Amino acid sequence: MIKSVKPVSSLKGELTLPPDKSISQRSAIFSLLHEGVSEVQNYSPAQDPQSTLRCVQQLGATVSKEDDRLIIKGLGRKNIKKPESDLDCENSGTAMRLLSGVVAGAGISAKLVGDASLSERTMTRIINPLEEMGAHILARNGAYAPLFVNRHEPLKPLKFELPIPSAQLKSCVLLAGLFGEEVTQVIETLPSRDHTERLLNLDQKVVHERKIISASLADEIPAQTYTIPGDFSAAAFWLVAGIIQNNAELVIKNVGLNPTRNALIEILKEMNAQIHIENERMEGAEPAGDLIVKGSDLKAINLDPKLIPNCIDELPVLAVAMLFAEGTSEISGAEELRHKETDRIMAISEMLSAVQAKFDEKEDGIIIHGDPDFTFESAEFESFHDHRIAMASAVLALKGNKESTINDAESASVSYPAFWDDIKRISI
Ligand code: S3P
Repeated sequence: MIKSVKPVSSLKGELTLPPDKSISQRSAIFSLLHEGVSEVQNYSPAQDPQSTLRCVQQLGATVSKEDDRLIIKGLGRKNIKKPESDLDCENSGTAMRLLSGVVAGAGISAKLVGDASLSERTMTRIINPLEEMGAHILARNGAYAPLFVNRHEPLKPLKFELPIPSAQLKSCVLLAGLFGEEVTQVIETLPSRDHTERLLNLDQKVVHERKIISASLADEIPAQTYTIPGDFSAAAFWLVAGIIQNNAELVIKNVGLNPTRNALIEILKEMNAQIHIENERMEGAEPAGDLIVKGSDLKAINLDPKLIPNCIDELPVLAVAMLFAEGTSEISGAEELRHKETDRIMAISEMLSAVQAKFDEKEDGIIIHGDPDFTFESAEFESFHDHRIAMASAVLALKGNKESTINDAESASVSYPAFWDDIKRISI
């Protein structure tokens, strides 16, 4: 599907976001692990959470809907069912990596498959620790989906220092560890999103600035009502869209504000963005609030690489903000971007090339020569079938002088099905 995006004179209005993708997926998986009934308020209708929900059902959970709540009946860790058909994780790295931990921990055989994009993403990072724990995993070329997890003896515990700051890897090992009689420990030096340890209330301690998270069969999976806040990563598109438009004013309601996710707010504020948080509160175990954003005069930033894990999914749209900031901005230490739904450093470069922006691509990031008066006529953007590239390109397209197009725009539905309706609604 090709979407046309018309230039706007400004943006105004109130937005409600899709429910958080990461937390939705975890609520489904954790409900499977709990023996009994869990409830999920505001589960995301986007493609990734929906494919995760189907996988969880194949593993034995029963799911029904009551008003805007999901009622999920789980079987508990000892009774996970061997799926009768492939677990199709579609586009979701989170689904494949977290469910591999569950399947390996449960000691059942299962085949996990994904779409073309997911089948090109390395799974070595999870295969290595799971095999160290005693799992048998067969992967295409030793690294890629489909993954065949085979029946094996109960897993051994593992003390695992994360080689990369990845919440998917951290969660995979912790979930496998939850099936073991002895304690598995994951050691984290750079904090990545903490939804897993937060929602499961896992034991955590900090020793010499390293976080040690523990998991074993002794940890109860609590009966919960999960309340899913709006997805901060979805809010990111409107934060940037708002600050780069003259006289814009957007109110974004009920946004998840987990501190391991929302580094973009501080980064944009350092760039001089006018962003205000109101109505801060807890939504279940997660902090949330409303955001108000206004058109701003931006200045360049040299991004601290330590912040990368806390804004990893927001970097494509941050690059758009950098293009309209006074001066030269730099993102470095973001090599992980090359392993997302597409190679996002390449995709950001292509997006910027489409409008003849000045930038230098680096192996682990990008240097962008910004200009508050930057303009372009129109562009044809490629999404590379990547939801975040499609939406970042749309935010940029709003600044053109004429209508631009985005190819394979349907990919936005992976995390934000109503994105194209919302962009029209706030355009003036
Ligand atoms: C996610 C973790 C991040 C993020 C992804 C969702 C999660 O990936 O990019 O969109 O839900 O745990 P990595 O753990 O690979 O960095």
